[in-house]
Amino acid sequence: MLIGVAILGALSAIWVGWNLTLDALWQPTDRVSVRRILSLAQVKRGETVVDLGCGDGRIVITAARALGAQGIGIEIDPARVLWARTWACLAGVHSRVRILWKDMYKADLHDADVVVLFLSPDANFKLQDKLLRELRPGARIVSYYHPMWGWTPDKVGTAKTGYPIYLYRIPENPEIERFSDLAVGRKT
Ligand SMILES: C[S@@+](CC[C@H](N)C(=O)[O-])C[C@H]1O[C@@H](n2cnc3c(N)ncnc32)[C@H](O)[C@@H]1O
Repeated sequence: MLIGVAILGALSAIWVGWNLTLDALWQPTDRVSVRRILSLAQVKRGETVVDLGCGDGRIVITAARALGAQGIGIEIDPARVLWARTWACLAGVHSRVRILWKDMYKADLHDADVVVLFLSPDANFKLQDKLLRELRPGARIVSYYHPMWGWTPDKVGTAKTGYPIYLYRIPENPEIERFSDLAVGRKT
């Protein structure tokens, strides 16, 4: 019994310690703000919504259930992946929501119409080049709380918490290079 408790304690400590090494800690978005994020992005039926760092999957599950979208949640923490998959099943949207146990920096974003971020300034910065390279022109990026470095938002909404929700659109023209140069420039 005592050994069991000690093992559980050690595993929990490792799990918490490992979580602290991530670029973004888990902090769920409240339900009202989830709706506002999806509404700002104007998610339509059949569109693919990708949440990078999806936590318990609430954003992609809501996108599928309320708006008829296809959801892809990317999450690095296996415990939350299991939780999100279970919730997607219970919500009856398992055929339209995929929760992938994956590092978001290695996820394939080519099919996304909308990418949702609730991460950190560092994570947003690291993702900028990838977003520009992989998303098609016209795809939308919604970032809750943290803006993208050097990008001008199309719109700024407000979450229930009062914090901003930034909407960006991948440009149709080669202006995209300007953003890319800027992102690369900031790294050096
Ligand atoms: C602030 S929470 C947001 C959760 C969810 N998107 C929401 O709005 O409720 C950030 C999430 O990103 C995940 N995360 C951090 N680094 C990651 C990485 N490299 N790849 C995938 N997920 C990551 C964390 O485990 C955490 O669940």
